[in-house]
Amino acid sequence: MNDILPDEVGTWQFLEREAHRIFGLYGFNEIRVPVLEKTELFCRSIGEATDIVEKEMYTFEDRSGNSLTLRPEGTAPVMRSFIEHRLHAQDPVAKLYYMGPMFRYERPQKGRYRQFHQIGAEAVGIDDPMMDAQVLAMLCHYFKAVGIDQVSLQINSLGCPECRPAYRQALVAFLDERRSVLCSDCQRRCQTNPLRVLDCKVPACQEATTAAPSVLDHLCGGCAGHFSQVRNYLEALELDYSVNPRMVRGLDYYTKTTFEMVTGQLGSQNAVAAGGRYDGLISDLGGPALPGIGFAMGVERLVLLKSQNPATAQRPELFLAALGQTAARHCFLLMNDLQQRGLKVEMDFSGKSLKAQMRRAGKLNARYALIVGDDELAAGQAPLRNMDDASQETVALQELAAVLNSRLADCS
Ligand code: HAM
Repeated sequence: MNDILPDEVGTWQFLEREAHRIFGLYGFNEIRVPVLEKTELFCRSIGEATDIVEKEMYTFEDRSGNSLTLRPEGTAPVMRSFIEHRLHAQDPVAKLYYMGPMFRYERPQKGRYRQFHQIGAEAVGIDDPMMDAQVLAMLCHYFKAVGIDQVSLQINSLGCPECRPAYRQALVAFLDERRSVLCSDCQRRCQTNPLRVLDCKVPACQEATTAAPSVLDHLCGGCAGHFSQVRNYLEALELDYSVNPRMVRGLDYYTKTTFEMVTGQLGSQNAVAAGGRYDGLISDLGGPALPGIGFAMGVERLVLLKSQNPATAQRPELFLAALGQTAARHCFLLMNDLQQRGLKVEMDFSGKSLKAQMRRAGKLNARYALIVGDDELAAGQAPLRNMDDASQETVALQELAAVLNSRLADCS
C-alpha cells in the first residue's frame, strides 16, 4: 500500500481530470460507492473459484458478526448500487464511471500493489455490439488524451452460458491428457476454473497449452455474430486491435466480448486496463435482466507509463520577492489578489535575503519573478523577470495582472 506523495499527485490529478472530461463526452456520469461491501457480493459476482475470492480478499467480521470485504474491484459494488437504488426504473440505460482505491492481497511487485486504484466505467442496458465498440472507443480516446501510446488493445470472446459449457468440456479433455506436466495450481484449476490454466505464467503450463482448443471455435451463432460485428465496428472506427483467443479474465462474470489494454513496459503486469461484457451479472445479483459492459484501468500502471513519458509539472506563474517588511506585507496582499484572479503565485514568508528568495523561485520553477522593495512601492512599479530567459521589464503594480496574463498567453 503506497503513499502518493505531492510530487506524484499532479500526474494523478491529471489522469483523473481527463477521465472526468473524456467519459463526460460519452455521456457517462460519476457514481461513488463505499469501499466496504458484504463479502457475499464478491463471492457471487467475481466467483468462488477465482484467485481474487479464494485468496486475495481483505475480509473481516464487524462487531455485529457481518462478514465484510474491502472491495477488490468496482463492477460488483456499482451493480449492487444500481440495483439497490432501482436506477433502472428511471432509465434502463445507465452509463456510470468511478474512481478510487481497491484492495487485493497479492504478492506486491512493480505495478502490483495491495491497495491500488482503478478508474472504471460501466454501460448498462444495451447488448448491441455498437455499445462494445463505443466503450472501446472511449478507452482508446482516454489513452490518446493522456498521452500514453505504448499500449495495444487485445480482444476476445468468452461466449455465453449456452456455448461456454461445450468449450469448457473440450478444454478439460485437452488438459486432462497433459495434467501431469501442469503446475499444482493448474492441476487444481482443471476442475475448478479450467479457463484460467490458459493464463498461467508457469512456462511448463504455457508450453503444454499451446495447442489448446480456442474458445473462438466454440462460440454459438449469437456470440460469433456479436464478436464479428464488434470487430467490424472497431475497423470502421479505425481502432487498432488484435484478437487473443487465450485471453481469459480473472473474474467469472464475463460473457461475450472481453478485452485488455496491454503494454510491454511493465514486466509481467502487462494489463493497464481490462474489461468486458457481463450480460448475466445484474440478474445474478437479484436485479433485472439487463446486459452490461465496462472496464477498469489501473491508475498506478498509468502513472508508471506516464512517468516514462513525463509531463511538465505545474509551475508557479509568478514568484513575489519582497525586500523588507513593508514590501512583504504589500506582496502578501498582492499575492492574494492575484490568486483570486486565477493566477498561480508564490512568495517566501520568512524574510530571507533577495538571493535566497530568487533561489526559491528557481527551485519552484516559477515562470516570472517580481522584485519589490520600498523604492518600487513608492514608484508604483517593479522589475518583472522572465525566469526562463532572464530578460526583465518594468511593470506598473496596478497593471501587473494584465501584463502577466498577456505574457503567459504569449508563451503558451
Ligand atoms: P481486473 O482485470 O481485475 O478487472 O482489473 C482491472 C485493472 O486493474 C488491471 O488491468 C490492472 O491495471 C489493475 N489492477 C488489478 N489488480 C491490481 C493490483 N493488485 N495492483 C495494481 N493494479 C491492479 C476488474 O477489476 C474489472 N472490474 C474490470 C471491469 C469493469 N470489467 C467490467 N467492468
